[in-house]
Amino acid sequence: MSKVWKKLEKHAKENRNFNLREAFQTEPDRVSHFSAQACDLHFDFSKNLISEKTLRLLQELAIKQNVSAGVSKMFAGERINKTENRSVLHVALRMPADQELIVDGVDVVSDVHVVLKRMKQFALAVREHRFMGSTGTPITTVVNIGIGGSDLGPVMAFEALKGYSQRDIDIKFVSNVDGSDIAEALIGLDAASTLFIIASKTFTTSETMTNARTAKSWLEAELGESFNPAAHFAALSTNLELVQAFGVDAANVFGFWDWVGGRFSVESAIGLSLMIAIGPDQYREFLDGSHQMDNYLISEPVESNAVYTMALLSVWYRNFLNAQSVAVLPYENYLKRFPAYLQQMLMESNGKSVTESGSQVKWQTSPVYWGEPGTNGQHSFHQLLHQGTSLIPVDFIFGLNPVKKMGNHHELLISNVLAQSSVLAFGKTAAEVRADGTAEELVAHKVMPGNRPSTLITYPKLTPSVLGQLIALYEHITLIQGLIWNVASFDQWGVELGKVVANQITPALSGGETTHLDASTVAAIERFRAYKEQ
Ligand code: F6P
Repeated sequence: MSKVWKKLEKHAKENRNFNLREAFQTEPDRVSHFSAQACDLHFDFSKNLISEKTLRLLQELAIKQNVSAGVSKMFAGERINKTENRSVLHVALRMPADQELIVDGVDVVSDVHVVLKRMKQFALAVREHRFMGSTGTPITTVVNIGIGGSDLGPVMAFEALKGYSQRDIDIKFVSNVDGSDIAEALIGLDAASTLFIIASKTFTTSETMTNARTAKSWLEAELGESFNPAAHFAALSTNLELVQAFGVDAANVFGFWDWVGGRFSVESAIGLSLMIAIGPDQYREFLDGSHQMDNYLISEPVESNAVYTMALLSVWYRNFLNAQSVAVLPYENYLKRFPAYLQQMLMESNGKSVTESGSQVKWQTSPVYWGEPGTNGQHSFHQLLHQGTSLIPVDFIFGLNPVKKMGNHHELLISNVLAQSSVLAFGKTAAEVRADGTAEELVAHKVMPGNRPSTLITYPKLTPSVLGQLIALYEHITLIQGLIWNVASFDQWGVELGKVVANQITPALSGGETTHLDASTVAAIERFRAYKEQ
């Protein structure tokens, strides 16, 4: 443990009675002091359990830990993903065409723009109904088949920007190997006008390849002799050989590179379904939004940098106040899949228990991230946020203008998010509850403890650019957390063994050998076989 880490531990102990009510009474400029602007995003950190000293110590931690050097290494294309010997360059995906980034002698920005140009031509052909299915019918339904980063990014961004999408093209997403997912997606589809986009970085992922083969069989059955795969399949992948073997026409294949991690890939070719939905110009605005946030991250000093503050607050709660989870609650229904998207980004990256060099960590790493859009969550789990026994910091995310204006809905939405954040922070004391005339036996039940932290993240209106900024914000939080916790944020070895064991179990389900499996698994397989036979 470094000296500053110990100082933070001591500071946390000394401040265990820190109280937001008191802080707001004694610090008249607390809100302006703990507010920041990053591009179009405004941050009000004032309702966090922090003093000026807390922030200074956290910033000292980032400085001592050389975080900004780690950030620079990523931007320079160094192979910071050491366990896979790869660069980590999702920031190159959004660099403008006139920028250059040479990695291993190659200008990766120019490669990115070659693919973007081809994506644009393809997206426009679909949007303008010039892309025909086998029988000469224009494509009007696009089904993205992918999982993990090849699904969560595109589906989240499509849902977020639906208000900007071309409505005469239906975009669907299939991810789960559970056959019900694709079965439901296919109901009512006209094969003649359906295009499947197979999104898979590796093109080996079992779920995606199973769904892709099912889609192919469905097209063959529906279209008979007229079926031409070139008219119904596109592929987004780094594995061009396997794509070819699957039979996707080279003109419909969009590549990317090993330096794009799956959970950071939404702005690579993996974003094709989004580009079809919102068009190339708005897609560019989306990329530009992320690029603006990248520039903010590297140009703003640590002391006033909102991205650093967000990351450092998560470290504060996790490592010094023992929070187990963080709730991300968008009060923006279009962001309904944002928490799910962030779960992969943050937890697949930093859910690790050894350091980069392989020794056991002596500190906690990623908390559990979770969330649902407000106001729905208020009628579900907010009870626990307000009166439960756990400390759960909250990120409230909302727009000052609605994408769709409907009567006074937006005013009601905003009053609710502000109320939640205020009640979490300031609660209601027993004296205040009594003052309402509450019966004594109910007083304890109605006391709201307060002192529960939240950050307000606001923007003028949810646009493609703002979404790009939000994505880059959390990507960089992920990076900074990983640098502080000293974990290998860009690999995901922990998901591999499950895939291997699933491959061993598959033959056993249809009668194969089970001796290599554990007793509980064997018992479940036997039950499965027995019911299957019935
Ligand atoms: O199994 C985890 C994972 O590798 C994720 O990191 C990735 O986003 C997902 O699977 C899908 O992988 P692919 O795009 O190669 O199909």
